[in-house]
Amino acid sequence: MSHESTLVTQRHFEYLAARTVGDDQFLKQLRADAQAAGIPAIDIAPEEASFLQILLMATKARDVVEVGTLAGYSAVAMARALPRGGTLRTIELNPRHADFARRRIAASDVAELVTLFEGDARVVLATFATHSADAIFLDADKAGYSRYLEEGLRIVRPGGLVLVDNAFAFGQLFHELPTDREAPAVKAFNEIMAKESRLQSVIVPLGDGLWVGVKR
Ligand SMILES: C[S@@+](CC[C@H](N)C(=O)[O-])C[C@H]1O[C@@H](n2cnc3c(N)ncnc32)[C@H](O)[C@@H]1O
Repeated sequence: MSHESTLVTQRHFEYLAARTVGDDQFLKQLRADAQAAGIPAIDIAPEEASFLQILLMATKARDVVEVGTLAGYSAVAMARALPRGGTLRTIELNPRHADFARRRIAASDVAELVTLFEGDARVVLATFATHSADAIFLDADKAGYSRYLEEGLRIVRPGGLVLVDNAFAFGQLFHELPTDREAPAVKAFNEIMAKESRLQSVIVPLGDGLWVGVKR
């Protein structure tokens, strides 16, 4: 058996994206309106959203925590993968983002499943009960990732998922002098994840690189 890997190019990304369930009209409108409202277009890619949904459905997740709501795109997408009675708790620090997301989530088909917590994840995560989630998705300030990971490992039940975005450091993983100020924090966090013995993890090359870990 060969251990060679195929070098994934932009063309492969376009190929797989064209063969993945994309955004429906609600999510397309949410992205467009968020951009028009001056909210940065840093939400996850549709194919990454689809993969998160697949992971949540395959593991029969009911209760999910998200760190970093932005405009509510990934919150709505993930909540759509949960069964009736499921919960998605999403945390957002920026009041303007929280306000936009709160209104969009309320207008969505999963309004009843989603609760937005406005505040610093460093404070909010500490209020969540131990083993109260099946999965956590980290997608906020990268300097906070190691702390969110520690909290996530407490909050997620054994066998649950720890999912972390931006393992490829906004495309600057191999830049000697990255211009993105968060890139060094991502690189440092990747080393922590690689050595974290409480998880079995792998970086999945979708979007900007997604860590997928299962809590042992
Ligand atoms: C990359 S965006 C999240 C994108 C979103 N998950 C999506 O794909 O639709 C990161 C968000 O994290 C928020 N954030 C940054 N620091 C935070 C903190 N300490 N606590 C909670 N949210 C924070 C930012 O304001 C921003 O809205």
